[in-house]
Amino acid sequence: MDPIDYLKRTRSLVEMEMKHIKDFKVFDLNFVPEIPINRPEMDKIAKAVLKYEKSRIPTHIFAFGSRGCGKTVTMKYLQRLFDTSSMEAKLLYVNVREHNTSFKMFAQLLGASPRGVSLSELFARFKGHFSAPTVLILDEIDFISEKDKDKEILYLLSRCSENYMLILLANNPKFVSDIDTRTRSSLNPAPLHFKNYDAIQMLKILQQRAEKGLSKFSHSLLNEISALAVKHTNSDVRVALKTLYYMATEKGNDLQECFQNAQRDLTADLICDLNYNNLLVLKAALKTPNGLVKEIYEKYTRLCSLKNERPFSYPYFYNNLSYLQSLGLILLASTKVGRTYTNRISLLFQPELLQTAFESKFES
Ligand SMILES: Nc1ncnc2c1ncn2[C@@H]1O[C@H](COP(=O)(O)OP(=O)(O)O)[C@@H](O)[C@H]1O
Ligand SMILES: [Mg+2]
Repeated sequence: MDPIDYLKRTRSLVEMEMKHIKDFKVFDLNFVPEIPINRPEMDKIAKAVLKYEKSRIPTHIFAFGSRGCGKTVTMKYLQRLFDTSSMEAKLLYVNVREHNTSFKMFAQLLGASPRGVSLSELFARFKGHFSAPTVLILDEIDFISEKDKDKEILYLLSRCSENYMLILLANNPKFVSDIDTRTRSSLNPAPLHFKNYDAIQMLKILQQRAEKGLSKFSHSLLNEISALAVKHTNSDVRVALKTLYYMATEKGNDLQECFQNAQRDLTADLICDLNYNNLLVLKAALKTPNGLVKEIYEKYTRLCSLKNERPFSYPYFYNNLSYLQSLGLILLASTKVGRTYTNRISLLFQPELLQTAFESKFES
């Protein structure tokens, strides 16, 4: 076929497939709606910031909740709201996954290059640049690099006399217990749990996006997607939104298939972001069909010695499982074996994704 003809025909096919999409940006997972669906945690954070604005006495917050439960969107919305209403408090936002050391975070906030400058110099510049009331939001703080063992940004900001307020967001509820005691005692953040959405809240979020983004949709489809996401994913809104997008664009329109594709696409990215030790934990879990935690640990330590890797200690390994659970990769459940209770892990991802992650990260 003539290449020009080929392109023209393919373009009209693509246009056909996408004819129900009115606004693509609402399907971008980083999209912040004009007004997000309300949730009580948003109100708690707004109040804490306003109290700080008035008193200049910061109460640091540690907000945690599973993946796709609305932590980022809540903070970005509040940041925009404070900005546009010319409030005195200034909210600064950094994504720690993208800027994963104290050094890189300060450099990002200052729009500076981190090369050739010491951390204390960068911090001095930060203090010169931002005065209270300033709230620093560190999103995905559990992705801070292992190289930044002391998590110095937390120490510096919680100890300095400028009275900045910190809001830390994480999937992993155990993140705070991993901070060294010196920093933890000065930071002393108030924990705030972002609860998983129920099917009704999930439906409202989907409806808001569908109304803005689609020229045609059915309410029963939105209901079905919400139910699937609540039941099979730890209420991950991102999977629900991606499923809706696939349903609205792909031929075939098989809901189960679109849902599984959405889940797979999002999980693949997540697994690729894990460090080597976590990949070995998942590999050990995959090779332990009964899912018993103790047996998985034994297999994991054997894998580590094969790969000359220092294994996590058992308590650390155990703590880390709740991190993998908060990412929606595993499910931990207590189960009775003989007369005692023990923990069992179920895997929530397709095994071939793990293999792909090993190949793309370490064996290429
Ligand atoms: N309350 C809400 N109102 C509207 N959209 C929401 C709401 N909560 C979550 N979302 C959407 O769901 C997706 C996942 O939310 P996100 O904030 O990225 O989750 P998290 O940071 O907890 O992983 C985003 O696309 C976000 O816009
Ligand atoms: Mg987030």
